[in-house]
Amino acid sequence: MKVLVTDPIADAGLDRLRDAGHEVETAYDVEGSALLDAVADANALVVRSGTDVTEAVFEAAPNLIIVGRAGIGVDNIDIDAATDHGVIVANAPEGNVRAAAEHTVAMAFATARSIPQAHARLRAGEWAKSDYLGTELNAKTLGIVGLGRVGQEVAKRLGSLGMNLVAYDPYIGEERADQIGAELVEFEACLKHADFLTVHTPLTPETEGMIAEDELALMEGGYLVNCARGGVVDETALAAAVEDGTLAGAAVDVFADEPVSPDNPLLAVDDVVVTPHLGAATEAAQEHVATSIADQVVAAFNDEPVANA
Ligand code: MLT
Repeated sequence: MKVLVTDPIADAGLDRLRDAGHEVETAYDVEGSALLDAVADANALVVRSGTDVTEAVFEAAPNLIIVGRAGIGVDNIDIDAATDHGVIVANAPEGNVRAAAEHTVAMAFATARSIPQAHARLRAGEWAKSDYLGTELNAKTLGIVGLGRVGQEVAKRLGSLGMNLVAYDPYIGEERADQIGAELVEFEACLKHADFLTVHTPLTPETEGMIAEDELALMEGGYLVNCARGGVVDETALAAAVEDGTLAGAAVDVFADEPVSPDNPLLAVDDVVVTPHLGAATEAAQEHVATSIADQVVAAFNDEPVANA
């Protein structure tokens, strides 16, 4: 069988596919008609977030059995088109949970203590010690929007650092929230109570733009961390809210359009810390998601049950 891989994944995943006897072709950064040509004879397509798997891709790939997403979010894959074409879509939801949670914690500290800004000024020769009076996370309230796998790991870590936890998640029960030590509240209450708000939802029609100007106004004086999906938070509204002091700061790893354009408003605001979608970028996480998606592709080829399909 032929597996086309269009976003870089760890070698361990490619090796696992080859060891199972399959042909692996890597074609990173292909898009448009080049992608349609490359996928024409593929039996599996493996992607991360860099490839848009549209209806046209399914139409161009009559032999496709499975699209494997080496990571969590499947918002770059047209699931309805996959269903119409009888193609399995599987993701690897476990492997990068800890990496994403750790990056979220790092971003919360980065914004609370202005670490990137102070670093840049020191590198430029300035000893700006008196310009940075940070905020402690200890004893502050963390609002978590989305208490799924990543949200729960963030809760564990920041709860153990002394934060009080409130969470909004319509899909989770009180009992589970209690176990995590988070009080379940309504969306608006979560925003109002949060000194720090962290977002951990997938990007769906329901969550797209769910945090915009009115919602940010409820968080007066707080910090927002988004290591989930860019489209969940309105970027123009967030940039304006930090710029005009409604929010004390923000830390953003994900953008509505990636790679982010240099004129994205968030890049122009000093109190917004940004990273280029690095949540899952650890060696352990990349190896785990790559081997896990390879196993699922092999299972699909063997007509075996595919986990996380
Ligand atoms: C994911 O959905 O798994 C993460 O956002 C990581 C990634 O796409 O690189």
